[in-house]
Amino acid sequence: MATTLITGGTVVSSTGRGPADILVDGERIVALLYPGTTALGANLAETVDTVIDASGKYVVPGGIDAHTHMSMPFGGTTASDDFETGTRAAAWGGTTMIIDFAVQKFGERVQDSLQTWHKMASGQCAVDYSFHQIVGDVNDESLAALRRLPDEGITSYKLFMAYPGVFYSDDAQILRAMQIGANTGLLTMMHAENGPAIDVLVAQLLAEGKTDPYYHGIARAWQLEEEATHRAIMLADLTGAPLYVVHVSAKQAVAQLAAARDRGRNVFGETCPQYLYLSLEDNLGAAGFEGAKWVCSTPLRSRQEEHQDQVWQALRTNDLQMVSTDHCPFCMKGQKDMGIGDFSKIPNGIGTIEHRMDLMYQGVVDGRITLERWVEITSTTPARMFGLYGRKGVLAPGADADIVVYDPNGHTSIGLGKTHHMNMDHSAWEGYEIDGHVDTVLSRGKVVVADGEYRGRKGDGQFVRRDPCQYLI
Ligand code: URP
Ligand code: ZN
Ligand code: ZN
Repeated sequence: MATTLITGGTVVSSTGRGPADILVDGERIVALLYPGTTALGANLAETVDTVIDASGKYVVPGGIDAHTHMSMPFGGTTASDDFETGTRAAAWGGTTMIIDFAVQKFGERVQDSLQTWHKMASGQCAVDYSFHQIVGDVNDESLAALRRLPDEGITSYKLFMAYPGVFYSDDAQILRAMQIGANTGLLTMMHAENGPAIDVLVAQLLAEGKTDPYYHGIARAWQLEEEATHRAIMLADLTGAPLYVVHVSAKQAVAQLAAARDRGRNVFGETCPQYLYLSLEDNLGAAGFEGAKWVCSTPLRSRQEEHQDQVWQALRTNDLQMVSTDHCPFCMKGQKDMGIGDFSKIPNGIGTIEHRMDLMYQGVVDGRITLERWVEITSTTPARMFGLYGRKGVLAPGADADIVVYDPNGHTSIGLGKTHHMNMDHSAWEGYEIDGHVDTVLSRGKVVVADGEYRGRKGDGQFVRRDPCQYLI
């Protein structure tokens, strides 16, 4: 087994930072060596196979993006990154594990959809992966299959309060699924928007000739996110199911989560970089059809209403626990352009997988979060939330050697033809400048990114079975 020593860096965890070397043997970390300790031999650097000089750099656990949609079928098309291209872009950006969503469509068996996702991912991935299960058709059979998911190493599932006629579950279906969540240890993930009400507003706006991408944000009003978030919390309260609300964007939805947490409930929330940096006015409201690049759900919120600042604040105070991307890219040509003249036909989703670590690091530079909080919200909490901690999300003996050397003196210019390895014909982050840079990435002990080169291969990444949520109160 090859050995690697990462020397001279500042190791950062969710609880602190300090100088330490890291010794890797094969796929695992075997030791952290603190200054003045020579127990493993003073000349270690001469005996290992590879030495990585991390002087002046941070050494952090590899990012875990717990919300991605590779090859997701949506709105008559399919997300443009597959497991090969999407996970390679993840590696470039310092993300060494993804949790994607297996999609049970209406009329399909849960088990079959999971097998489909296994087939799509197997042998294709650059970094490790797991799945959550989307249940798009809650019925006796799918609920029975839900109960068996932990045997497959799947410990979380997602329901939708949005998208009637596609993935939507009504309150009765949600209640039944949550009852299973309460007694199996499955974490219920919720897309919390009131879909039937949104559909009424969409039809009214279109009838008034309001067809531009901007109106996607108007139809998906914050009241409908707040209401659905509240309803999901109440159903979770009633059933005792732990609840994780995905892609939270409205400050009022954050307040609902915070209030439930203040009552001691196992209620959690994720946000995404797009809700921290982008807005209804600046992006969805861009001239012509450009705004389609930023059509996603929940939608980008108004800058005037100051949702972005409140979401940053919630990340600081742990009212929101982590940041995923909801990576669901579509090209403008041939995909997003299906919605010219009708914003409701624009496939929903933004591509961010490559930039999450950088965009959140910029939050450190800008004084929004601490360095330790950066590690926590991008790696350690995702690991704990989704039953991976110990193996992932931490730099400690016995953990997988998923390691990122991050250069705080480096610079990253985001955009097409620059740092872009996602399978998209545009970047939702074109022109963003980051005061830091992903320098070197190890995935289970193998250097996959170094010196500006990708050195991994498809198939490096393996399916990882997960334990139940390790974040419960
Ligand atoms: O716009 C989004 N979020 N697309 C992906 C599907 C989902 O709801 O997560
Ligand atoms: Zn969703
Ligand atoms: Zn999603």
